[in-house]
Amino acid sequence: MPSQTLVGTIHDIAPPLTAKQAPWMQQVLQTPNKLHEWIRSYGSPLHVLNGSEFRRNVRDLLQPLSDRGIEGGLYFARKANKLPWFVTLAREEGIGVDTASLQELEETLALGVPPQQVVLTALGKDETLVSKAIQAGCLIVVDNEDELVLLRTVAASLGKSARVGLRFAGFTVQGRKIFSRFGFPIDQSASIISSVVHSRWLQLECLHAHLDRYDINERAAAARQLIELADYCAIIGAKIESLDLGGGVLMRYLEEPEQWNDFVDGLSASVKGERPSFTYRQDGLGYFRAGDQLAGNADLYPAWNNLSKERFLSAILDHEESGNVLHREISDRGLKLFFEPGRALLDNTGLTMASVAFRKRDTDGNLLIGVSMNRTNLRPFRAEFCSDPIFIPRGVTRANLGEGAYLVGCLCGESDLIFRRKLQLPFLPEPGDTVAFINTSGYLAHHMEISTHGNPLPRNALFDNSSGRIVDVFPQRREVQ
Ligand SMILES: Cc1ncc(COP(=O)(O)O)c(C=O)c1O
Repeated sequence: MPSQTLVGTIHDIAPPLTAKQAPWMQQVLQTPNKLHEWIRSYGSPLHVLNGSEFRRNVRDLLQPLSDRGIEGGLYFARKANKLPWFVTLAREEGIGVDTASLQELEETLALGVPPQQVVLTALGKDETLVSKAIQAGCLIVVDNEDELVLLRTVAASLGKSARVGLRFAGFTVQGRKIFSRFGFPIDQSASIISSVVHSRWLQLECLHAHLDRYDINERAAAARQLIELADYCAIIGAKIESLDLGGGVLMRYLEEPEQWNDFVDGLSASVKGERPSFTYRQDGLGYFRAGDQLAGNADLYPAWNNLSKERFLSAILDHEESGNVLHREISDRGLKLFFEPGRALLDNTGLTMASVAFRKRDTDGNLLIGVSMNRTNLRPFRAEFCSDPIFIPRGVTRANLGEGAYLVGCLCGESDLIFRRKLQLPFLPEPGDTVAFINTSGYLAHHMEISTHGNPLPRNALFDNSSGRIVDVFPQRREVQ
């Protein structure tokens, strides 16, 4: 393919973001023939999963609790990945499961997770779902007044009381109220708690919060305000058994902090016009320019951070305020403490692979590498997935290209870009080469994946690192879904 029509220069390529790789991933990526063979057999894209890292994550995330003598544990937030394999692993490791729909609840129970270890946090619960959870005896985390009415009505009609957790929002930290649209307003907690404890069909057990941002002070503030509520409940004769601080346990995608800083600095500099843009059509990925000022925030997951997983939990538990350490405030009251991690339990458990379908240029002259997938197969919640893919040539290695390219998918929409940044290419990929994306099983692979143009959803292959083989495939047969 001719590359003379190049309009970009080396300066418009995004700074590198080298992905952190688990040993099993390195093992897989070192066998290119196998990768090409898997894609030929199972189709492109293909999600490849490994369970041993899930087990390791369970142990690592439980450690901060057991080190501090705190009872409670983890519920795996299965919304982060739809595969039954991780639910089975959660059961085998003895942790609970957080379910967010009727399908997730039914499948989790069918896979043998004991109902006492299942929590239902679904939004928009309906009668069927609530009835199923009450009958099974699962803890139900309630988000709003209408749900409470529904729970009371369904429990009364079944003649069986419902195990209730109350989700709260509106915690304050350093005089600021933390925004959320989920949960009851904490400043109305007294009347809400009273309506639950006075109902013979509702059994209040748990106080719950799930915060979006990865801010230790916010988490600790929420925990302390829930502890105050638990104290209040004890005074009115309602014993709270547990606190649940939800999910959102930070994890890390990148190897090097410097790369992350260079990327974010480069992005803001490009929006300010201090260097050429390296994003598609000058997308600021959350930043924008207001006059000659930089405005907005980078809409990016903190892909490098030094508080990953168990360190994040330890920092919350060890948070000190007025000489009081949070974990002691919890254990002194005999409260259990739960977290509901999804993403962090799935760290290092998945790769996504796709084959190169075509090369071309857009009307601005940008080199485009088309991959047999679409952006819903690798969909971050934020503006961009900040981890570089790996290009694996079919056959002999080719010469360095010295030009960057955008990776695009195969949907019939201009916005179907896999990344919005221009990637440095090690060589000019050819149709049939493979591109591997690292650490994709938490949300990226499944959460928003859709089937379009009559194509089935991609398949998922379970890789066993001791035999080096695929040992299971989901779904088994390729059917239009
Ligand atoms: C109530 C609740 N619990 C747990 C989670 C899982 O969060 P994460 O996967 O970031 O740990 C979420 C995510 O949206 C949630 O809303």
